[in-house]
Amino acid sequence: MINVSVAQDRCFALLPCAGSGSRAGTATPKQYQPVAGQPMARHTLAAFARVPRITQVLVVVAPGDNFLHTPDATFSIAACGGATRAESVFNGLKQLLVMGATPHDWVLVHDAARCLITPAQIDALIDACLPDAVGGLLALPLPDTLKHARANGRVDATLDRADKWLAQTPQMFRIGALHAALAAHAANGFAGITDEASAIEATGAQPLLVRGSAQNFKVTYPEDFALAEAVLTSRDA
Ligand code: C5P
Repeated sequence: MINVSVAQDRCFALLPCAGSGSRAGTATPKQYQPVAGQPMARHTLAAFARVPRITQVLVVVAPGDNFLHTPDATFSIAACGGATRAESVFNGLKQLLVMGATPHDWVLVHDAARCLITPAQIDALIDACLPDAVGGLLALPLPDTLKHARANGRVDATLDRADKWLAQTPQMFRIGALHAALAAHAANGFAGITDEASAIEATGAQPLLVRGSAQNFKVTYPEDFALAEAVLTSRDA
């Protein structure tokens, strides 16, 4: 039997791109640093542009940020970035609704700084989440042994890693459900909300874990740029 509701649901992409990237040690925000010949965010946008099931891509930038303001039919820009990533996402969701998305549509929220995402990984997340009641996220089972640290920088315990996953993005949820989940934390500055799934979890729902790739890392530290460049260059070759 064909599931009519699944067939009609649209998928939007929301790219928070309003961070300063202070950990990257770069003069301009890290998402605009050149990697393999292009600003990092352009690689991210190119991956989403190659997924036909994405109806529209909205990039959330900081107020006054004109870096991406060149004509391009593959994405829209909203200069409504907030003080935190969660606030940027919350503001972007409101903008998607203004632009004609419905609360029942899906949104894939993806860090602009994860520029190694591939169309195949985005498609895998969509395939897994479309039939799901909650939605979910790309993530990786923890590969390393996990240590608990004391304030003095010494280990006091080794934790069981069997049930631990590293959360990545995209994270895919219904726009209305995610907006409501984030709204509940707006008054306290979105404290403790480090990704979309954490807001959904706080409502009592259990997001689906969809295995991602180690290559889908978030460019965060200075040494990450060379690694991202090497991966992108090897793909081109
Ligand atoms: O700083 P971090 O690496 O956690 O940022 C993840 C993503 O969230 C980046 O793409 C960054 O531009 C975005 N962000 C944002 N608004 C903020 C902080 C971060 O859109 N206030």
